[in-house]
Amino acid sequence: MIDHNLSEPTPDQTSQLRCISCGAECEKAAQNFRCDACGDLLEIVYPTWNTSAETQLDAAALKSLWLQRRASRLSLDESGVWRFREVLPSFPDRQQIITLREGNTPLYEMPHCTRIAGLDQLYAKHQGMNPTGSFKDTGMTVAASVARREGFRWVACASTGNTSASMAAYAARGGMRSLVLIPEGKVSWGKLSQALDYGAVTCQLKTDFDGCMRVLNEVVQRMPVYLLNSVNPYRLEGQKTTVIELMEQLDWQVPDHVIVPGGNLGNSSALGKAFIEMKQLGLISALPKISIIQAAGANPLVRTMRENGGEKLIAVKAETAASAIRIGNPASWKKAVKVLQATDGSVEQVSEVEIALAKAEIGADGIGCEPASAVTFAGLKKLVKQGFVKVGESVVLILTGHLLKDPEFTLKFHRGDLFAGTESEKEADILRPQQRAPIVLDATVDAVIRTLKDADSRSET
Ligand code: F0G
Repeated sequence: MIDHNLSEPTPDQTSQLRCISCGAECEKAAQNFRCDACGDLLEIVYPTWNTSAETQLDAAALKSLWLQRRASRLSLDESGVWRFREVLPSFPDRQQIITLREGNTPLYEMPHCTRIAGLDQLYAKHQGMNPTGSFKDTGMTVAASVARREGFRWVACASTGNTSASMAAYAARGGMRSLVLIPEGKVSWGKLSQALDYGAVTCQLKTDFDGCMRVLNEVVQRMPVYLLNSVNPYRLEGQKTTVIELMEQLDWQVPDHVIVPGGNLGNSSALGKAFIEMKQLGLISALPKISIIQAAGANPLVRTMRENGGEKLIAVKAETAASAIRIGNPASWKKAVKVLQATDGSVEQVSEVEIALAKAEIGADGIGCEPASAVTFAGLKKLVKQGFVKVGESVVLILTGHLLKDPEFTLKFHRGDLFAGTESEKEADILRPQQRAPIVLDATVDAVIRTLKDADSRSET
């Protein structure tokens, strides 16, 4: 039974590391978080959940405990991750936990996008509203805390930008040093400046994300640094809480569809794991269909599903302006395939122009997001056209990063420069009505009033 008394410690839920392929269990993960026996990824399982009635978590009691904690001033209760600590690896010494009060992100209705998609119920869970502006914080609080508990001085990641920003912040809060490997010239300035300000040693390698990952895998085998990429299964445990919070916001009514962007495929794996575990615990009675959307220029999962049904990864050379998901060799592809199969989800790819249009449409709902997040809405429109998502069904988009992460993309879009000189230039004509370049004027009242009247007459037509 769970503990209802807020002042009492959490019951010690023992979690275990297990290989996703050969099932081997291990006490402690290797530096690269690969199985010693077969080299595949590890996941975290909770063996006690399946055993006696005494250790079985009670769904109704959990829901009410989690709700009660929202009135608490304890730092762990104020975190939208640790509020759900019964379904996370336990931390008997809570002083080790590093939290920036992550999670607690809004679920927005999307009236403009709902109309465009021709649906009745469309929501966006905005993970860009986390402390460092992306969903990475929900996983980082757990994995960085494990690093501190295990006594590491250094943590490290390869990144397209958001992981590095998040890791650097949590390392700084936890008194650890951080090492960041990013592809030179391919990380947006917003993200890069975060890593610098939070004190990371930031290396721009002359390669892509996949190349950074390859180098880092060697570094962690030779140096005592703790790997904080999403191959670290503790990251995924924290990221699970996004959908627990989502279900609370939806009064535990499971949506028909959840749509997620796919890069290294850690997040889709984490969200799928959360839904499957919630069903196992009796917190929900059905699973949503989880669909994963990629940029057409960085589409290894889409190709893998279409060309061999998820049997063998088809890695690609990735290219997209949605730099967060410019990944051709995703580490967690097997976990993501399992989620697609378990939830009957779909995969879809979207063009660069479709991403830019969807981003502007999300912006027109007063919310905004970074380009990688906008693939969800671009993909949704395709899934509706195909009949995979039906008009009466409810849909949640997972927006993963804040609009201000990549202001350069947005400025280029509005100035009409985004596709200049590219093969998409013609197709990009459809973006014109969404573009609002800044207007340079003489500093006179007349000039401003004329501009206002002009704009007003255009919006009436
Ligand atoms: N959206 C954003 C904004 C991201 O930053 C990422 C990944 C994704 C989606 C894809 O998530 O990798 O779990 O499938 N960014 C990583 C990074 C790779 O280094 O910041 P995924």
